[in-house]
Amino acid sequence: MVINRRVLTLDEFTLQAFRQIPNATGELSALLRDIGLAAKRINVEVNKIGLVDLLGETGDVNVQGEEVKKMDVFANNQLIGVLKHGVSCAGIGSEEMDDIVVFDDELSNQSKYVVMFDPLDGSANIDTNISIGTIFGVYRRKSTLGKPCDRNDFLQPGVGQVAAGYVVYGSSTMLVYATRRGVNGFTLDPAIGEFCLSHPNIQCPADGKIYSVNHGNFFKYEKPVQEYITCCQKKTEKDGGPYTNRYIGSMVADLHRTLIKGGIFMYPGTTKKPAGKLRLMYECNPFAFIIEVAGGKASNGSQRIVDVQPTDLHQRVPLFIGSKNMMDECLSYME
Ligand code: AHG
Repeated sequence: MVINRRVLTLDEFTLQAFRQIPNATGELSALLRDIGLAAKRINVEVNKIGLVDLLGETGDVNVQGEEVKKMDVFANNQLIGVLKHGVSCAGIGSEEMDDIVVFDDELSNQSKYVVMFDPLDGSANIDTNISIGTIFGVYRRKSTLGKPCDRNDFLQPGVGQVAAGYVVYGSSTMLVYATRRGVNGFTLDPAIGEFCLSHPNIQCPADGKIYSVNHGNFFKYEKPVQEYITCCQKKTEKDGGPYTNRYIGSMVADLHRTLIKGGIFMYPGTTKKPAGKLRLMYECNPFAFIIEVAGGKASNGSQRIVDVQPTDLHQRVPLFIGSKNMMDECLSYME
């Protein structure tokens, strides 16, 4: 087989990107490559999940009060493993863990980044072969280099992210990441085990025709949310419609589609759970960063997601995210 040299691998791409930035140390490029490595390992296990005994619940309950699937634990350990042994990460926060993990060793204390991640989002869908994913956000630490990182390095608003991304384990496996310079997508070529640049400079279309929300909760949503959903249902050709509803129930899959095709995704609060279900630090902030770099918008209904000041590592937040013009219309209902 002759390798197509017009195709850039993730490693080549991150190296090229780092060379364009004066005074860059290459730490971020190394960190993204480390996450790519963990993603490949997770992908191998996700692909054979029907065959091996990783399927099923560990029986533990995570900090969110949800049952932990074995694959969640595997994915969490892979990410911690590569980031701890890399040279760019001082510590991590994970949706699966109560508290942050500080990599307190000589090399890690010199690293300028901390990473927040959801190792395997949508894991409730594992048993039925629906696409699931890994989500991550990278922050520059505030604490002094040379010392261990601390909690304040993690409790930063999402606007402080220097990069964010996700991996979707689907009909093909893709890693998409954003820095302020743009959003780029890489598809895993299983023949060579490399993520290859397949979606350069992704832009989220300003308009879309898909709205994505859990209709089962309709009567639990606040009135403005119900009114906006009803507006989506009533759209005709005259006002940019008709819209169609698509809801996979796996955030990475729903938002990957929203990013590429345009549309709006919502996980609003309900009367009983006003903050909704999704976690600010591990799910909403990374996607808000990505979609904003791609030209879209993300809000909790009254504020940009990335401006929310976190007070708790595991706090939840209502989420409205997607194409710019659809978001503007949605937010006009929230006002
Ligand atoms: P989990 O990781 O616990 O499976 O949660 C998945 C999240 C997210 O991916 C998805 O958008 C949402 O839960 C779906 O929740 P509902 O089933 O309540 O719609």
